[in-house]
Amino acid sequence: MEAEVKILNNPEEVAREAAEQFAGLAQNALRKKGCFTVALSGGSTPKTFYALLAEESGFREKIPWEKIHFFWSDERHVPPDHPDSNFLMARATLLSKVPVPLRNVHRIPSEKPDAMRAADDYEKTLRAFFDAKEGEIPTLDLVLLGLGTDGHTASLFPGSPGLAERKSLIMANWVPKFNSYRITMTFPIINQAAFILVLVTGEDKAEILRAVLEGAPSEPGYPAQRVHPANGKCLWIVDRAAARLLERHQGDADKHG
Ligand code: 6PG
Repeated sequence: MEAEVKILNNPEEVAREAAEQFAGLAQNALRKKGCFTVALSGGSTPKTFYALLAEESGFREKIPWEKIHFFWSDERHVPPDHPDSNFLMARATLLSKVPVPLRNVHRIPSEKPDAMRAADDYEKTLRAFFDAKEGEIPTLDLVLLGLGTDGHTASLFPGSPGLAERKSLIMANWVPKFNSYRITMTFPIINQAAFILVLVTGEDKAEILRAVLEGAPSEPGYPAQRVHPANGKCLWIVDRAAARLLERHQGDADKHG
């Protein structure tokens, strides 16, 4: 799978590179159309990145937060005040520290008991915001993703029904290993993004990152290998620990590391 990969020395450098990319993409989008739309990812990797945007004046003061609209690439099927909530993590690390108007924060209504209803409602929110009719796929300026050690991205897990979804933008995806639903963007909307940033750090991701980026065709496929922007760009920002087993991409370390 050929993708652009930047290998940096450690998670802090990965976070800084992601913040630089975020700021640059936001400025470009604002110049072109006066707003910037981003889907945030969850889990633990992006926390340092979100905190850097909020706490370093070079980012906090420069980014026109009032013109940015925040969405989520996935969410756990929990209320927004639950410790597992991706919204709660983003609010704690970023959104509560920068002047983003509440109307610009479009969280997934994951508190709804019916996960399918939550997914349908979020799809309606996206279609209304982007004025995208049935059959049309909205283009977000930036979609952030992570990588699980099982090769999942967003909440598109191996063997889950969401992998095959081609029509819905958002779906409630049953994840057996958690015995719960996740509400997730599907590949059609992920791959419609103008820019996809995948952040991966840590030794525990080395084997899966190798398999996803450099696995032989004979090796099993992983959901993250289906991240292929139709017209946009995909950049993997990884640290040396996660990149330890990469062969074809080590050269990137010299350029960026
Ligand atoms: C989530 C994320 C998920 C995450 C990966 C990596 O809801 O957990 O969307 O796709 O990005 O599981 O998680 P870590 O960053 O915690 O390793």
